[in-house]
Amino acid sequence: MRVIVEKTPEAASQRAARYVASLVREKPICVLGLATGGTPLKLYGELIRMHQEEGLDFSRTTSFNLDEYVGLPPTHEQSYRYFMQHNLFDKINIDVRNTHVPDGRALDFDKYCEHYEQMIVDNGGIDLQILGIGTDGHIAFNEPGSSLGSRTRLKTLAPETVKDNARFFGGEKLVPRLAVTMGVGTILESKKCALLAFGENKAEAIALAVEGPVTAQVTASALQMHREVHVFLDEGSAAHLARREYYDEVEKAHQMLETGKLSWTDD
Ligand code: GLP
Repeated sequence: MRVIVEKTPEAASQRAARYVASLVREKPICVLGLATGGTPLKLYGELIRMHQEEGLDFSRTTSFNLDEYVGLPPTHEQSYRYFMQHNLFDKINIDVRNTHVPDGRALDFDKYCEHYEQMIVDNGGIDLQILGIGTDGHIAFNEPGSSLGSRTRLKTLAPETVKDNARFFGGEKLVPRLAVTMGVGTILESKKCALLAFGENKAEAIALAVEGPVTAQVTASALQMHREVHVFLDEGSAAHLARREYYDEVEKAHQMLETGKLSWTDD
């Protein structure tokens, strides 16, 4: 895992956006895995800016979203399809036919989830999966206890997640209790992952995910098994990391390599 800590959510989001943009530039026919929630909003804002001001081209990009609430139509303001259209797809030149958000109203979920997995495979797999993290350490809607080998399926939201998301629905009672979500196993098959987290309320989840044991009780910890994960944090979300100084050293070393400077001393 490469842990990158920036001073602010804005700076970390810009850094993450540069990481996404470099993939889109290098491999225009790429497959992005996308996430919802408050965390990736600044990243999406930066990608929109790069599209508008720097000509970042998404015309040949395909996308797959992590999850969707069961029962919400795409027109519902809290559905993840609505979120994606409003916060990204409508503002860049991605072909909407190449964007995929799980259907929360599928009649046969078993069949539908298998189909979603197959579509990912048919498109060559996900090149880069963007992820947020729940305060209970979940990725997508893989709540504590989710199998680390799980595939796209229905999942019941944990009480903590219902509480966290109540702010969007105007009360806990109105939050859907079920979601269709990519599994941890599905996510681990992405070629690269970018995990973003901001604010002190994510600090405990991040410490467990990055430095704790790999456990189904903190599904983000499964990313320790992945071959290429970048973790983009602000100071708040990095506050409980025990090895923070080391991550800063690693960043310095990367910068030196990038600028061709190979000596640790000043001269
Ligand atoms: C939901 C989503 C996750 C997201 C999490 C955190 O549970 N299913 O994909 O990472 O919320 O949301 P936020 O970024 O708003 O804190």
